[in-house]
Amino acid sequence: MAGRVNISARLHDILAKAESICVMTGAGVSAESGVPTFRGNDGLWKKFRPEELASFDAFIRNPELVWEWYAYRRKLISEVRPNPGHRALAEMQDVIPDFTLVTQNVDNLHTRAGSRDVIELHGNIMRSYCLDCGLFAGGSVQEIPSGIPSCEHCGGMLRPDVVWFGEILPQPAFQKAAEAAGRCDVFLSVGTSGIVYPAASIPRMAREAGAYVVEVNPDSTDLTPGISETLSGPSGVVLPDLLSILKEYHGHQQN
Ligand code: OAD
Repeated sequence: MAGRVNISARLHDILAKAESICVMTGAGVSAESGVPTFRGNDGLWKKFRPEELASFDAFIRNPELVWEWYAYRRKLISEVRPNPGHRALAEMQDVIPDFTLVTQNVDNLHTRAGSRDVIELHGNIMRSYCLDCGLFAGGSVQEIPSGIPSCEHCGGMLRPDVVWFGEILPQPAFQKAAEAAGRCDVFLSVGTSGIVYPAASIPRMAREAGAYVVEVNPDSTDLTPGISETLSGPSGVVLPDLLSILKEYHGHQQN
């Protein structure tokens, strides 16, 4: 059901003409699936110390503890499902000719919802790679490692394929995200506090390149002052509304 969110006439007009849309999501888009955010009241960084769990030094100091934490998160994620926000974004891809989905999330829920070619800025918790030979080990959502998993090729220690504090982002992913932000007509910043860089620079790049930047979030964030329009509400409500509007103007095209 569309029409629950207050969308300006200007945004209606821009959505009607939009040929290129770029979306960047953060932990908030998965909140309605039951995945905790990082900085909310029940946020992961309120209960756990990132310096003990999410840095390369922490991993080398205590790989068993770090793997235990990632196994716990993999299990949690494997038990939840994509929500209407994820599903609306997956459908938008077939409505807008040039649509790019960038995520800071490692939870794989966009792909499980049907999105294709998701740009993962911070990796994917379901994958790991070998510290010795670099071989990737794809995981399935059912695979929950116990202890320290090892490489099936060389026996080396696997690490989760996620970006930890102090590490650089995968450069091809960041580059593609920056390009999409630079050419889009509308940029949606969804469910992110916008405080972790360089991901948080992407909405700013879009704005500087002339895009209409829309924030979808029940709360204001560090990005809010530079936003063209805020849609204040949960993404599981706002994104299906935006999808309905886009379908009204663009019809339902198959790529
Ligand atoms: P945060 O936990 O910092 O922010 C989550 C945002 O989601 C907040 O602004 C909330 O207001 C918003 N939110 C909560 N529920 C929502 C809902 N139902 N709909 C829409 N928005 C909602 O998470 P991120 O911004 O994703 O990095 O954090 C960025 C990075 O910090 C993460 O990728 C992770 C973390 O350290 C790495 O792991 C490298």
